[in-house]
Amino acid sequence: MNVAESLEAFVTWRETVGGRLGLVPTMGALHDGHLSLVRRARRETDRVVTTIFVNPTQFGSSDDLKAYPRDLDRDLALLREERVDCVFTPGEAMMYPGDFSTWVVVERLTDRWEGVSRPGHFRGVATVVLKLLNIARADRAYFGEKDYQQLRVVERLVQDLNVPTEIVPCPTVRESDGLAMSSRNVHLSPDDRRAALVLFRALSAARDACHAGERNGEALGRLVAETIGREPRARADYVAVADPRTLEPVTRVGRGGAVCLVAVWVGSVRLIDNVLLGSPG
Ligand code: PAF
Repeated sequence: MNVAESLEAFVTWRETVGGRLGLVPTMGALHDGHLSLVRRARRETDRVVTTIFVNPTQFGSSDDLKAYPRDLDRDLALLREERVDCVFTPGEAMMYPGDFSTWVVVERLTDRWEGVSRPGHFRGVATVVLKLLNIARADRAYFGEKDYQQLRVVERLVQDLNVPTEIVPCPTVRESDGLAMSSRNVHLSPDDRRAALVLFRALSAARDACHAGERNGEALGRLVAETIGREPRARADYVAVADPRTLEPVTRVGRGGAVCLVAVWVGSVRLIDNVLLGSPG
């Protein structure tokens, strides 16, 4: 496995390889969710590149950024086991040199939900993702559906800016008890880890109610918020029942289905999760 720590090293490696290239962008602290993206890329492409870069521009405060878990040796060992061809680990000065001045802003899709709770977050995500797509020149890039709004934002920017990489959405990977895998889960205390199950419980309640015929967006949102409200260690940041494409709130779950998105504070950890309702087109 090639580990490219500089742009020059990556470009040199990239020039030597042919065939279809799969890209899995990450911020490290890898878990089975990331590895499922790598395995899918492995199955569908000839060469797999994983990037590990904790992107400072998508964090709101330097505390958040400092607290982000990092363990490069462990990450590299996991990627070696998955037979990844190249890991690109650029430094901050390489990605954002002192005279860096160009930002990617995806409008509308970022107006709500994570966009409100984390101002500037998607500007940082969209900018770094476009940089990584330009650098890697991959045929396909793999993104998890757990970060649903991020996935939609990346799809939009690729379409709007004619980026010749296919974005492949991949299902959320869950622990056996339903908790969505996230690098942030390591910060949960044992009590908070138990309390965090409320996200899956609340989303499952909405999915079941929708299956049983409840199509009112507000009622479904209320059911989710009430379920979260019954867990004393949890505090909902937002609960949304939205159009799966535009992410605008829906009053009714129609033929196109809906997505229920939640962000919840459990202790000092902020977790997000989502479920599709109805049959999205
Ligand atoms: O989902 C993530 O880990 C990050 O937002 C990404 C896509 C790697 C960009 O920094």
